[in-house]
Amino acid sequence: MKSILSILTVVLGGSAFAAGASAPLTPPVPAYGTCSSEVTYVRPASEGLSPEESHWLDSRRPQVVSALKSYLTLAAIPGFDVSTYVSTLSANGSAIPVIGQAYSGGGTRATMGGVGFYQSFDSRYSKSVAAKTGGLSQATTYVAGLSGGCEAIMALAINDFVDVQTLVTEGAFNNSAVPKSAYEPMQLKANAGFNLSIADVTGTAEIFYAAKGVIGPTFSGLFSSAAYTNGSVPLPFLIMAEGIPQGLPGSTSYDGILFPINNATNQTIYEISPIEFGSWQGRAQAFTPTSLLGTPLKAGVPVNQSKCVTGWDSSAWVLGAAVAAQADWVVIVDTNNTRGIFSRAESRRKRAELAYPPNETELIAESQVKELGAFITGVLPGILSLLGNATIQEVGYGLVTNPFLGYDKSEAGLQEQATLALVDAGESGQETPIWPLIQPVRKMDFLLVSDSSGVELSSGWMNGTNLINTAAMAIAKNVPFPKLPDVNTFLINNYTLAPSATLTFPDLTGCNEPEVPLLLYVADAPYSAYSNATTLVATGPSEAQIQLLLQNTLDLVSQSNTTWAQCIACGSILRSLERLGEAIPDQCKLCFERHCWQGEMATGTPAVRRTSSSIESEHNLRRMERDDVAARIFGNGNSIPRLDHP
Ligand SMILES: *[C@@H]1O[C@H](CO)[C@@H](O)[C@H](O)[C@H]1NC(C)=O
Ligand SMILES: *[C@@H]1O[C@H](CO)[C@@H](O)[C@H](O)[C@H]1NC(C)=O
Ligand SMILES: *[C@@H]1O[C@H](CO)[C@@H](O)[C@H](O)[C@H]1NC(C)=O
Ligand SMILES: *[C@@H]1O[C@H](CO)[C@@H](O)[C@H](O)[C@H]1NC(C)=O
Ligand SMILES: *[C@@H]1O[C@H](CO)[C@@H](O)[C@H](O)[C@H]1NC(C)=O
Ligand SMILES: *[C@@H]1O[C@H](CO)[C@@H](O)[C@H](O)[C@H]1NC(C)=O
Ligand SMILES: *[C@@H]1O[C@H](CO)[C@@H](O)[C@H](O)[C@H]1NC(C)=O
Ligand SMILES: *[C@@H]1O[C@H](CO)[C@@H](O)[C@H](O)[C@H]1NC(C)=O
Ligand SMILES: *[C@@H]1O[C@H](CO)[C@@H](O)[C@H](O)[C@H]1NC(C)=O
Ligand SMILES: *[C@@H]1O[C@H](CO)[C@@H](O)[C@H](O)[C@H]1NC(C)=O
Ligand SMILES: *[C@@H]1O[C@H](CO)[C@@H](O)[C@H](O)[C@H]1NC(C)=O
Ligand SMILES: *[C@@H]1O[C@H](CO)[C@@H](O)[C@H](O)[C@H]1NC(C)=O
Repeated sequence: MKSILSILTVVLGGSAFAAGASAPLTPPVPAYGTCSSEVTYVRPASEGLSPEESHWLDSRRPQVVSALKSYLTLAAIPGFDVSTYVSTLSANGSAIPVIGQAYSGGGTRATMGGVGFYQSFDSRYSKSVAAKTGGLSQATTYVAGLSGGCEAIMALAINDFVDVQTLVTEGAFNNSAVPKSAYEPMQLKANAGFNLSIADVTGTAEIFYAAKGVIGPTFSGLFSSAAYTNGSVPLPFLIMAEGIPQGLPGSTSYDGILFPINNATNQTIYEISPIEFGSWQGRAQAFTPTSLLGTPLKAGVPVNQSKCVTGWDSSAWVLGAAVAAQADWVVIVDTNNTRGIFSRAESRRKRAELAYPPNETELIAESQVKELGAFITGVLPGILSLLGNATIQEVGYGLVTNPFLGYDKSEAGLQEQATLALVDAGESGQETPIWPLIQPVRKMDFLLVSDSSGVELSSGWMNGTNLINTAAMAIAKNVPFPKLPDVNTFLINNYTLAPSATLTFPDLTGCNEPEVPLLLYVADAPYSAYSNATTLVATGPSEAQIQLLLQNTLDLVSQSNTTWAQCIACGSILRSLERLGEAIPDQCKLCFERHCWQGEMATGTPAVRRTSSSIESEHNLRRMERDDVAARIFGNGNSIPRLDHP
């Protein structure tokens, strides 16, 4: 645990930013206060949903019913009587479908994929309404993000799930450098005696434009806004993995940089919502209130009754912790791409061989692409300097006081740890944030997965591995999940885009297994524009590029085919109809016959496989995930802002 324990309290200097100086809004800065005797500081996961979540569901359900009424009316499944169904739901809460959306990691590409996915099902977007998909987002109960997908979730959540076009036109996805003053709250946090980590810096930069020039409200604070109290928006989750300290079970490290356990099916996936932080399985198996994150606890109670922390959970810090992959990048660069979780080859030349001719007018230009190596040499020193010249080993995570210290329901190793080192959940070997959504206590009926991870084939598209990893972990942890095809079947059946194929088609799995959620897996693919945008620098993506990416996602999701749109609507009600013992409309039966994987593995060889050594050797550090972070912080890397020192 040495590397974590050796972190110094960072003091960046006191006078440069007098408290409250010129800040237009008061950003959240952590502070100590008196502990309340009425709070449960830690609770075991075995208790099920938190009372707050259960209570919130009571206000969300009627909103879901009225949204479904509009959505199903629009979709117009032949032979399906919407009003009778809706009255049944109104009279019987347990029949109401629980719908979730998961947005993968994959840098800026995935952020756009996530908001594009949300918009493709948004009743406020006329093109989605025209495609007959608009309205499912309004009927969605839970949304979750991983890494780049977290930026989508956070941009939506801190803006009350405003429509995506408003976010775009108001510049929420602006990639410009942020002004120095954005780091003022970080300074105040350090001055108040709290430890900083890389999550404070990158989170601030990542959220700055989406939060209209501040670092966002606290994540927990969102829950008291009207949108939540009246149940009109879904509950958001961000997921994270953790670096396990040296000497503890499952630890793995390179040059003192900590990684999650090296086993994709035995991960601890932490989730954070505005209500709680913790894990259902794995090391924590317990939850703590998000609003009190940072509070020193032992065995589930405050160490000191006058030292309860509030304000730690700024949306900036939460987002920064969920994208904390920078230490991993260092390892990738140090080892010439042979170690590190994201060390997967990507080749641009292969993408150029795609047969389908999407719109190339607004391709992300070469000059917009940022190199990972340049981040490490050009930008990281500036970040570390902001953090008091700490080393990446010391601060390269989302560091937070471990709320599960000495808590007997948690794994023994975690009980010993003073600090949690949270990292981008992509380091767990999964790229889709499915874990919170398939927990049996949430009773998921229809799970829509947007996968823009783009790291599984050397050509930059998916082959199903991330989803298969999640399924394998679900089996290992006894969490119900649909049976999945193998990678070969994914590729041969075009469930993802094989490099030589033209289109992927979203497919449904789990249809014939009523005990698991129905899964709609939508792998990113080029329909009307190349969506292979990922590593962007200061100047991008432009609004025109964003619009093309969003349009591509709508074309992918909707297939420009209203019969397919009806199939999605069928998916939204299947489990509910089954529970009610009601007949499945004939049209829906046709959909499921056509689009459900029927359990057969394909034989043969996918058209193009990643076997050529020439493809392997093409790997480079250019298009690695998330190096766009650099752009958001420091623009081109030439002007590294530093906090002033006394
Ligand atoms: C800061 O980190 C050090 C080293 O891990 C630790 O001893 C100290 O308690 C931390 N301070 C706070 C306020 O969390
Ligand atoms: C309410 O719905 C459940 C399925 O969710 C069903 O099992 C139950 O019979 C329904 N109750 C009534 C009174 O219809
Ligand atoms: C992005 O932010 C920069 C710097 O604040 C500003 O000059 C530019 O106009 C913004 N661009 C958009 C599209 O909002
Ligand atoms: C799973 O991970 C835990 C650490 O969280 C470790 O103690 C345990 O040995 C691992 N189990 C297997 C089967 O690898
Ligand atoms: C990985 O973890 C799973 C349990 O989740 C275990 O069954 C498996 O043996 C582990 N694999 C290795 C190589 O340790
Ligand atoms: C890095 O790996 C590439 C591809 O294997 C190789 O061509 C290159 O020589 C390596 N560079 C270094 C510095 O080891
Ligand atoms: C996206 O794909 C196109 C066509 O293959 C290629 O020309 C372009 O360079 C790619 N963009 C990026 C950012 O790799
Ligand atoms: C390509 O995108 C541009 C917008 O940047 C648009 O003006 C043009 O019509 C598109 N071309 C096609 C063939 O869709
Ligand atoms: C970090 O190191 C640089 C270069 O040695 C120095 O100028 C700067 O003052 C240091 N920053 C802090 C906070 O110690
Ligand atoms: C699928 O993706 C995984 C993860 O990147 C990779 O290891 C594997 O080689 C790929 N398999 C095929 C057949 O493309
Ligand atoms: C997959 O797509 C390719 C290229 O369009 C096509 O030749 C092939 O028949 C498709 N496979 C299946 C199972 O539909
Ligand atoms: C539209 O979707 C339906 C249902 O999946 C399918 O049967 C039909 O072939 C599709 N039409 C076209 C033109 O692709």
